[in-house]
Amino acid sequence: LAGDPPPPGHSDLVVVANRLAVDRVVEEDGTTSWRRSPGGLVTALAPIMTRQEGAWVGWGGSPEEELDEPLEPFTHEGMHLVPVSLTERELVEYYEGFSNSTLWPLYHDVIARPDFHRQWWDTYQRVNARFAHAAAATAAKGATVWVQDYQLQLVPRILRRLRPDLRIGYFHHIPFPPVEIYAQLPWRRPVLEGLLGADLIGFQRRSDVSNFQGAVRRILGSSFRSNTVQVKEHDGGARTVGAAAFPISIDVDTITDLSQNPDIQARARQIREELGNPSTILLGVDRLDYTKGIRHRIKAFSELLEDGRLSVEDACLVQVASPSREGVDSYKELRDEIELSVGRVNGTYDTMGHTAIRYLHHSYPVEEMVALYLAADVMLVTALRDGMNLVAKEYVAARGGWGGVLVLSEFAGAADQLRKALLVNPHDIDGLKEAIMEATEMSAGEATKRMKSMHRQLITHDVNKWSRDFLDRLGGAVSAERSGPDD
Ligand code: G6P
Repeated sequence: LAGDPPPPGHSDLVVVANRLAVDRVVEEDGTTSWRRSPGGLVTALAPIMTRQEGAWVGWGGSPEEELDEPLEPFTHEGMHLVPVSLTERELVEYYEGFSNSTLWPLYHDVIARPDFHRQWWDTYQRVNARFAHAAAATAAKGATVWVQDYQLQLVPRILRRLRPDLRIGYFHHIPFPPVEIYAQLPWRRPVLEGLLGADLIGFQRRSDVSNFQGAVRRILGSSFRSNTVQVKEHDGGARTVGAAAFPISIDVDTITDLSQNPDIQARARQIREELGNPSTILLGVDRLDYTKGIRHRIKAFSELLEDGRLSVEDACLVQVASPSREGVDSYKELRDEIELSVGRVNGTYDTMGHTAIRYLHHSYPVEEMVALYLAADVMLVTALRDGMNLVAKEYVAARGGWGGVLVLSEFAGAADQLRKALLVNPHDIDGLKEAIMEATEMSAGEATKRMKSMHRQLITHDVNKWSRDFLDRLGGAVSAERSGPDD
């Protein structure tokens, strides 16, 4: 997989992620331009990348066949972008297949059944090697390379073979499952070996770290001591690899500024009016994904309407479900199921003036999201399994000291930090119903006290701290610890 190393590049800091840090925008007249992606990761890393002449390696978002010519590296707002090209077939086998129909369900507690196909695995290896080569050709001598997420787990090892001079970090944004589940993966050894090519492996929760360590022990027979493990090199030497938790966060200042903007506050009031001024607005915001527990949330809410504990005059559930991975069968099936149940609930409980569930299958700009957070009295984050869940943190950032109640699944990584949320097990529908009632009935004083406490946690743990902590630890955990065969 490694092949011959390319000559070194010029960047001292290289981020490697499945997607580039920019989105391609096609104007009405057919011309195309690039816009920085709105996500937290990009926002967090952009300033460091610009300061350090950093480069971002990733897929440009369109299959090779749709482009007139392959994309060349380019610079956008001071960031160097290095596009990796993927064909339609590779997108089916590496992205929709191995990444999102094998790894995604396997790593999220097999909520959906993972598919194991040898052809997908071959393509995953080939595509990971391509990303590693692009990173090797971009990184200067002794540079730091930071690989992101489950789509690229083999990159650390391939890259180390190509460029032993590099300092390599990897961050896993999604859960790492218990070894009993992980062990189903036919390629469980090479995936662990791929990750162990890094100097430092970051996870969201401490439980992810211990699951990973358990898998390394059971499958590779190597034990971690104080969060480090010795990995044998092919030249007979050994390297120290660290694994630790670095819970990701959001750009708190951006959300705070938007929440104080009078236009956005006016939009929040308008949303309330447009919904017929119900006493309680409940809100769900998710990618339309089976890990998010959207069906459980709808079930609990509809039973509360059926029991007469809520009515459509009192309460409206706004569910934003942003389109996601629409080429994958399990996502198509989920959409059908959700839309069937929303239709049923609304058909049963709506009146001319009020709706039970206002369902929106769209993505919205961050300004509209903040207006929704300001309008919502209760935020429902009921994921069955989630690496972190940044929506929960955005809600807290937007509410600041203004109350509002967060109902949060204990199976989302955010539950480790947002301890003053109403923590729920979303599988327990009765428990979820009680938590929704407690949230709708909570006194303003109690809600504000809880929200302020969570807000204090958040402002000292924003996404800048996350990237700083990881990169500082990576800087300290370097190959100084490498010992040669004769040591
Ligand atoms: C999760 C993953 C990310 C991924 C995102 C959106 O947050 O951890 O790696 O980019 O979902 O999914 P998509 O498949 O559209 O990139």
